[in-house]
Amino acid sequence: MSQPPRHFLDFWKLEGSDLRAILEDAKARKAARLGWPRGRPDADRAAEGRTLAMIFEKNSTRTRFSFDAAMRQLGGDVIISNAADMQLGRGEPIEDTARVLSRMVDAVMIRANRHEDVERLALSSTIPVINGLSDKGHPCQILADLLTFEEHRGPVAGKTIAWVGDGNNVCASFIQAAPKLGFKLRIAAPAVYYPDLAELARAAELQGDVVTTHDPREAVAGADCVVTDTWVSMGDTDHDERLEALEPFQVDEALMEEAKRDAVFLHCLPAHRGEEVTDAVIDGPQSLIWDEAENRLHAQKSILAWCFGAI
Ligand code: CP
Ligand code: NVA
Repeated sequence: MSQPPRHFLDFWKLEGSDLRAILEDAKARKAARLGWPRGRPDADRAAEGRTLAMIFEKNSTRTRFSFDAAMRQLGGDVIISNAADMQLGRGEPIEDTARVLSRMVDAVMIRANRHEDVERLALSSTIPVINGLSDKGHPCQILADLLTFEEHRGPVAGKTIAWVGDGNNVCASFIQAAPKLGFKLRIAAPAVYYPDLAELARAAELQGDVVTTHDPREAVAGADCVVTDTWVSMGDTDHDERLEALEPFQVDEALMEEAKRDAVFLHCLPAHRGEEVTDAVIDGPQSLIWDEAENRLHAQKSILAWCFGAI
């Protein structure tokens, strides 16, 4: 019997030990190629002879380029398509898409409007499926964020991460990661844009130290890391209501003062300066956003290597 494919869909389905192994592999791979030309493959060519298909239902800069660069550095190849250009965009069942791609490539990354479509794709695939962002989560992003944090501040276990703003898909992946990797998560969000209660309940079942509040200062007090994200995610239609409800949750210098003196600032990007974060914070000395963006590449190489059984 062949092994079931190693999907990377959300953190609930993954062991903390797998997440730790992916993070350590990413650190080692990044260190091993320091100063190399970006197009030169890693010495072990962990994806040699393999092809990754990428399907995009939504826009992307970082995810698209980092997965493409990642496969090149792993010695593999990619095929990229916007869903609208595929028969998927004309209503072909995602299960049939899964069966076809399973005969042609070695893994699929999908950025989807609906998380259930990511799950359906995985259920009918005989190859690994990677969630490159859905309405319910962005797990690749969180591994890049934790890699960035650990590079600058050491092991995340026992540390406090404060999420301020919309309780969105990126926030949901932080909620899932907290019990798996043992960090404390403090979330400040307005009642209307609160994080998913089912995700919070599941984190609590796993003894996750996740606390929610409506007060950004309370969430940030003593934190090692402050994170935010856009107030209007792709697919959100209530732009004006969001800006109004989230305005008290802007991350500015006064709020950063409430965190630890050496706290770092993260943002998955794209950012809206003057909305969820001020210029002074995102472009200031505590901000790690460019390392964070680069680390999408390094983290994803290790996610791919894990999916291919090389970790
Ligand atoms: N952070 C992130 O996923 O960026 P993109 O939307 O540009 O891929
Ligand atoms: N929450 C944002 C993240 C973008 C990378 C969105 O879903 O649009």
